[in-house]
Amino acid sequence: MKFTVSPLKNPIKATISVPPDKSISHRALIISSIANGRSEIKNLLASADCLSTLKIMQQLGVEISTFNNYESVTVYGKGLHSFSEPKNILNCGNSGTTIRLLGGLLSGQNFLSILTGDESLLSRPMGRVIEPLTLMGAKIAGREHNTKAPIVISPGVLHGINYEMLQASAQVKSAIMFASLYAKGETKIIEKEKSRDHTERMLSAFGATIKQDKNEIIIGSEQHLQAQNIFVPGDVSSAAFFIAACSIIPDSELVLQRVLVNPTRIGIINVLKKMGVKIEITNKKEISGEPVADICVKSGELISCEVKGNTIPLLIDEIPILCIIMAQAKGKSIIKDAKELRYKESDRIQTIACVLRKLGVEVNELDDGIEINGLEGKPFTINPSIEWPKHFDHRIAMSVAISALKANEPIPIPGAEWIGTSFPNFDKLINKLHMATV
Ligand code: S3P
Repeated sequence: MKFTVSPLKNPIKATISVPPDKSISHRALIISSIANGRSEIKNLLASADCLSTLKIMQQLGVEISTFNNYESVTVYGKGLHSFSEPKNILNCGNSGTTIRLLGGLLSGQNFLSILTGDESLLSRPMGRVIEPLTLMGAKIAGREHNTKAPIVISPGVLHGINYEMLQASAQVKSAIMFASLYAKGETKIIEKEKSRDHTERMLSAFGATIKQDKNEIIIGSEQHLQAQNIFVPGDVSSAAFFIAACSIIPDSELVLQRVLVNPTRIGIINVLKKMGVKIEITNKKEISGEPVADICVKSGELISCEVKGNTIPLLIDEIPILCIIMAQAKGKSIIKDAKELRYKESDRIQTIACVLRKLGVEVNELDDGIEINGLEGKPFTINPSIEWPKHFDHRIAMSVAISALKANEPIPIPGAEWIGTSFPNFDKLINKLHMATV
């Protein structure tokens, strides 16, 4: 994907659909592979990250058929103990969810496996999954004293543990949950701050017994998982880019259809309401164990906001685009307690601070967040003497694209080649916004 985004001249009036949810797509592929029977997945996200997971499940011997360019995917699961030893190294590409979730799942297998990824993935922390899995008895090792990938896993005998999460991370929590299916005894996970709960919901939808009480999750081993048909709803993290476009272009109105509105994912909606954006959730229903709805957005006067504490995990992936919205608000906005951003596909505190400076915004980078002086609705102006960041990732590139809708000149989007990891056809949807202005 290579494209230039021009400023919008008129308000947006449109109804759109965004791509399927990435987190749910990964889990649908993994859980249906360890279930018994034929699961049909409708509306799977066919992005580079999810295709890494799909290919690895096939390398583990799972039969998966795809129809009509992934419109429908059928997984023939043969239960928890049906995988065969992969002949080659398993490449997770750019996908942290793939490597961490599969790290847990493969710890319970009776064969050797090696997980690797691209340069960005090789630099991300893996000690956070290697440590709890080792406590469970896994034979798992990684580069740089067990802190980085590639990760090598050999057969181990697993037992349940009581584990208090050191950081809010659905990837770590899910790795432990997948390993616990192969462990002797129960596993208890204690979360100080709640992270996204799709693994809990989907395992339950497939028939697993999971006890949940406030901040504790208890899961037993050898659960019988029965194949299910799954519909993957629109990704609220992808929707956030278009909600942002509507929020920063005055007098705009946008409807996003069939989007996931799981409470562990909609922190961005709650923050934007506080900032003055008018958002309504309509047509709410439950599909495959997840709440799904239409999101109706109307722009309003944007005011600054402080975001911190246990709100952070509920909007962790939306922080780059939230920063673009904050840069258009009146007053100084602050994001704190978000050091986790430094360990994403890029160091997102550093990269978004650099992007904002390039867009003519005054920012102060904090160790665990950022302070942003809003432009009060004035267009972004490109500063030619500042470079774009050296390392890009999909969410940073899409944040630049949205800011270009409110810039003083067209912007050729730097790092656009990363966008396909989560949002195929992002450029086409941006064009649709251009055509849907009044
Ligand atoms: C994800 C969890 C989050 C999120 C990532 C997807 C998941 O990561 O940032 O994009 O699907 O479990 P952490 O678990 O590292 O917070």
